[in-house]
Amino acid sequence: MDERIVSGEIKGEDAYEFSLRPTLLSQYIGQEKVKENLNVFIEAAKMRQEPLDHVLLYGPPGLGKTTLSTIIANEMGVNVRTTAGPAIERQGDLAAILTSLEPGDVLFIDEIHRLHRSVEEVLYPAMEDFCLDIVIGKGETARSVRLDLPPFTLVGATTRAGYLSAPLRDRFGVVSRLEYYNEEELAMIVRRTAEVFGVEIETPASHEIAKRARGTPRIANRLLRRVRDFAQVQADGVITTEITEKALERLQVDRLGLDHVDHKLLKGIIERFRGGPVGLDTIAASIGEESHTIEDVYEPYLLQIGFLQRTPRGRVVTHKVYEHFNMEAPK
Ligand code: ADE
Repeated sequence: MDERIVSGEIKGEDAYEFSLRPTLLSQYIGQEKVKENLNVFIEAAKMRQEPLDHVLLYGPPGLGKTTLSTIIANEMGVNVRTTAGPAIERQGDLAAILTSLEPGDVLFIDEIHRLHRSVEEVLYPAMEDFCLDIVIGKGETARSVRLDLPPFTLVGATTRAGYLSAPLRDRFGVVSRLEYYNEEELAMIVRRTAEVFGVEIETPASHEIAKRARGTPRIANRLLRRVRDFAQVQADGVITTEITEKALERLQVDRLGLDHVDHKLLKGIIERFRGGPVGLDTIAASIGEESHTIEDVYEPYLLQIGFLQRTPRGRVVTHKVYEHFNMEAPK
């Protein structure tokens, strides 16, 4: 896959982004409904002096699922332990994590849809009854023992709730879907991050970055970092609209945040398949990408902005794409 500045997935410098992240719900911008609900559940759990019920967060990458899990732990006044589905290979790995938790702790499992089935089975009684059923020994001497666990809150994150098995999904008391952010929210996030960086940014410039960030804070912050470089080297360090436009043009991120991969995908459908409908696998083969990468990474935002439509016969580009590329739409 090509390196993309506009991909929602975590990479490179994004790892440093932890220091930029808000630590309290009140500092977290956007996702108003999710925040309001979480606030009530957190307050109620604290009043009852119980751990918060298990929370499932789902939505496209880069919208703040990890950040929210840290905020939940912070607001509850407990520790957060972070891991990811594919990292837990054996039942014993999960048992080791669960038995090391303090009462009330948050266990954050990213990409929870990628947990092995056998590991998932250990998780069911752990979530439901805070206990662990483990088998000791082999063959005739094997026996099952039940261990009590400290009560804890599981926060699971996934890009697609549909990938989760029903028994696992049903064990979450709170299920929240994160939405793409609007321009105003992203511009606020950009200005907040600029403040953390100690760099001056003009308000219109924050909107220019927001418009091209594909509804995603992680992308907004990544674009801001690059624009800051241009402002530092080619101007006086202040992030103006002029330097922002120049930088984003250099980065080949267009006015809607589309990059060369999106262009290749959309123009491919127009030029080779007359705008569709065309099947996902056919598109994938024609532009040399994997079907699931198109489906999980490129396509969600194009569907969201109404550039692509899914129909029973395949993907179709809409008139908006022709307008965006200044092309004549077929009759
Ligand atoms: N940084 C990244 N995402 C954020 C958010 N939702 N609110 C505030 N700062 C952020």
